[in-house]
Amino acid sequence: MTDYPEFASPKVSELPKEGILSCASPSNIALVKYWGKRPVQIPENASISFTLEACRTTTSLKYKKLDKISDDFNFELLFEGKPKPDFKPKIQSFFTRIEAYLPFLKQYSFEIETSNTFPHSSGIASSASGMSALAYCLMLLEKQIHPNITDSEFLQKSSFLARLGSGSACRSIEGPITVWGVHDEIEASSDAYAVKFPDKIHQVFETYQDTILLIDKGEKQVSSTVGHDLMHGHPFAIKRFEQATHNISKLKDVLISGDLKSFIEVVESEALTLHAMMMTSLPYFILMKPNTLSVINKVWQYRKETGSNLCFTLDAGANVHLLYPDVEKDQVLDFIKSELVAYCQNGQYICDKIGLGAKKV
Ligand code: DP6
Repeated sequence: MTDYPEFASPKVSELPKEGILSCASPSNIALVKYWGKRPVQIPENASISFTLEACRTTTSLKYKKLDKISDDFNFELLFEGKPKPDFKPKIQSFFTRIEAYLPFLKQYSFEIETSNTFPHSSGIASSASGMSALAYCLMLLEKQIHPNITDSEFLQKSSFLARLGSGSACRSIEGPITVWGVHDEIEASSDAYAVKFPDKIHQVFETYQDTILLIDKGEKQVSSTVGHDLMHGHPFAIKRFEQATHNISKLKDVLISGDLKSFIEVVESEALTLHAMMMTSLPYFILMKPNTLSVINKVWQYRKETGSNLCFTLDAGANVHLLYPDVEKDQVLDFIKSELVAYCQNGQYICDKIGLGAKKV
């Protein structure tokens, strides 16, 4: 039997023959980071993120019912119009993990076509938007088979499936702020799927901006999966997981009150702690680049000189996410253009903001 029987779907005799379903799903940026997991895709601590809007993956799923149930999954993958064989193993293992919850998978052949709004190999994690988009498309098919599924069941199971593709992907299904992982102070939180931040957020966060500076577009030397594994036996692991739990409590109050000074403190500390974990694992590694540090120092200096609420966060790479309230947009963009663009590879950056999650297109 499966770990989460509530997500198993009943077998049916009649399946739709063929069709095409499409959706778009965004990336997200964690404020309190997920770094460390147990099998299968269970986080060691709860994490919380802003769902983004502009950085997203659009996926269409063409499905055709087979005459008889196949021994293996049948799918073709097109990325930006071209076959993408190197993505296939990841999808193959995703299908294997989710088959227990979508029993119709081997009764179809699929053509999955996907594209991103952000530049290819920009170093922006495409797994969160990519896996959440695929999970959401598969749920659109599930809904054709079981039309009675409620909206909240639909979203919860989409997030549940997305998590089995990539942990952070489960936080992209809804927005503007989601939490994944059990936490005493977040109502209905779960290790199995993300939930919407349950309290009313302060108005300042409803339009929060995220400008992503593309510092280094190179392939990551260490994948997130390897990084998560290095938290097993890591000398600071237990303290780190406790700290993340504590930071979610702090951030919960901040998101309600709009206390931006405390927001900055939690978010920047989380970013640096994530990278500190990488630097203190065995083997140790560094994903920041010299320009990442230059940008961080510039941000601190700018804040000191202007009293701005601009702050930074990082994911598992060298790029810098700059977070700031909408009212500061003009000044911050001037600052980026005059002082920070020089540190971006080919002068590239992406203007994004908080968004509402996956949707059918
Ligand atoms: C640093 O979700 O990419 O971005 O579950 O192995 O696919 P897998 O890992 P992934 O890890 C994301 C790590 C992070 C922090 C975060 O998004 O919380």
